[in-house]
Amino acid sequence: MEIKRAKFICSSSKTSQLPEGDKLEFALIGRSNVGKSSLINTLCSIKQLAKVSSTPGKTRLINHFLINEEWYLVDLPGYGYARTSKTNRKEFASIITDYIKNSENLHYLFVLIDIRHEPQKIDMEFFKHVSTLGRPFGIIFTKSDKLTDNKAASSIARYKRIMKLEWDQLPDMFVTSSLNRTGQEPIVKFIGECIKLTKKEK
Ligand code: GTP
Ligand code: MG
Repeated sequence: MEIKRAKFICSSSKTSQLPEGDKLEFALIGRSNVGKSSLINTLCSIKQLAKVSSTPGKTRLINHFLINEEWYLVDLPGYGYARTSKTNRKEFASIITDYIKNSENLHYLFVLIDIRHEPQKIDMEFFKHVSTLGRPFGIIFTKSDKLTDNKAASSIARYKRIMKLEWDQLPDMFVTSSLNRTGQEPIVKFIGECIKLTKKEK
């Protein structure tokens, strides 16, 4: 599959506002500033499709982008942004949890992790949260341009080692840089295969 067309459809603050229909949704989630919106732009080859900012907490709503008139890429607000007010923080958490729990069309979640960081408690907790809510997820390491290939490989190896302590099976993993525009193809291919499988099951 190739992403040929991408269009912003709507922003929602709760599941009752999500687009109607039964198109599959593939959502990007992760800590604030990890590069979710940038990755949407790189995947779709449109510079300002999703709003990007160096200030964390830019994306505050659930944003739906229709791809090839067939499925949605969903940009979610980040978690773990401490500088916002407590009420806001709670609101982000409930937006995210409401969507993950109740969206009828959410098919797969990509959790984004900054490749430079050691495994963080908040991400480990988030994996469990997603899994408890019964949603399949994979990991996308972002900002690979910030490390040499060797350092990137050892960072991923460390991630796997730590995840293996708690998980019998490791999730699918992808490595990307939106700056260098690398690593997007395997993600698009993966989504294409998910869509094909779902069509066969119908
Ligand atoms: P929130 O919406 O605030 O949760 O952030 P986000 O996860 O959507 O991050 P966003 O895409 O807005 O990017 C945050 C910052 O990281 C911006 O300054 C981007 O330019 C930068 N950034 C994103 N991806 C990359 C990357 O692959 N490499 C580098 N070097 N910088 C990146
Ligand atoms: Mg964003």
